[in-house]
Amino acid sequence: MTVTVRAPAKINLHLGVGAPRDDGFHPLVTVYQAVGLCDDVTAAPSPGWTLGVTVPDWMDADDVPVTGDNIVDRAGRLLARRHGIPARAAVSVTKAIPVAGGMAGGSADAAAALVALDRLWHLETPDDDLLALAAELGSDVPFALLGGTALGTGRGELVEPVADPSTWWWVVVPSAQGLSTPAVYRRFDEIHPDAPVEPPDADTTLAALATGDPERLAGALHNDLQEAALDLRPDLADLLEKGRRAGALRGIVSGSGPTCLFLADDADAARNVAGRLSAHHDVVLVANGPVAGAHVVTYA
Ligand code: C5P
Repeated sequence: MTVTVRAPAKINLHLGVGAPRDDGFHPLVTVYQAVGLCDDVTAAPSPGWTLGVTVPDWMDADDVPVTGDNIVDRAGRLLARRHGIPARAAVSVTKAIPVAGGMAGGSADAAAALVALDRLWHLETPDDDLLALAAELGSDVPFALLGGTALGTGRGELVEPVADPSTWWWVVVPSAQGLSTPAVYRRFDEIHPDAPVEPPDADTTLAALATGDPERLAGALHNDLQEAALDLRPDLADLLEKGRRAGALRGIVSGSGPTCLFLADDADAARNVAGRLSAHHDVVLVANGPVAGAHVVTYA
């Protein structure tokens, strides 16, 4: 039997960040949206544990470590330990989500691995247990299971679905060089030594989502990590400006960056913006959201 599970990239329509907690994590109030850029994880029976990764032409395979402590290895070990069974599977990841790009690609892989291995090993882990295991693996992993649009609190791991009946169109511009999430949070702490304990709320963004109006949503997009990411990567400011000149309603840094996102009016507008940005950037993608969380695509 072979199971393939697909899991989406996330973007943050609102990312409110508070002062670091005692455990070093930052309290968040965030609105996640799953967008149609997805990684696939395939799990097949095997006498041992193996992990392989395939990347698209525009990605560097060396950026995805497959030996040691990959988050997919950790997902497999954690699920097996939870059920008291050996972790035996041949797992392969087919990447499409930028690596170290602020789109939670590793988290998507972990979520997809949990679902694929749960099916392969016939475990039928209850949803709440799977969400708890996901939270142990990383702050963004529960959302990759849930998908759609959701309010995230805690360190991002507490997720609650939000109604989002529209389809939003995004242009996604990854960067050849990734950014380290902890480094961006550290820069945030340096820039904001007096950050509030309670992160800024997401009310404006949630109200804009409910209107279905891209201009309203463009005005409401908010990312407290953007200043820190731009500080580490000043070149991104030019890219954001170029996107606006190319006709995007608004450009923002995705999560901790360096991927930049541009909201467009509709599918045609997104393709236009992407076409113009392609003159300056090798990789320019178009994605819509919200899309489903980790789900089985083939089961053979
Ligand atoms: O939870 P995850 O493993 O994705 O987090 C990666 C790193 O990002 C953490 O080690 C921490 O430095 C930073 N982080 C944070 N506050 C959060 C989420 C992540 O400081 N809410």
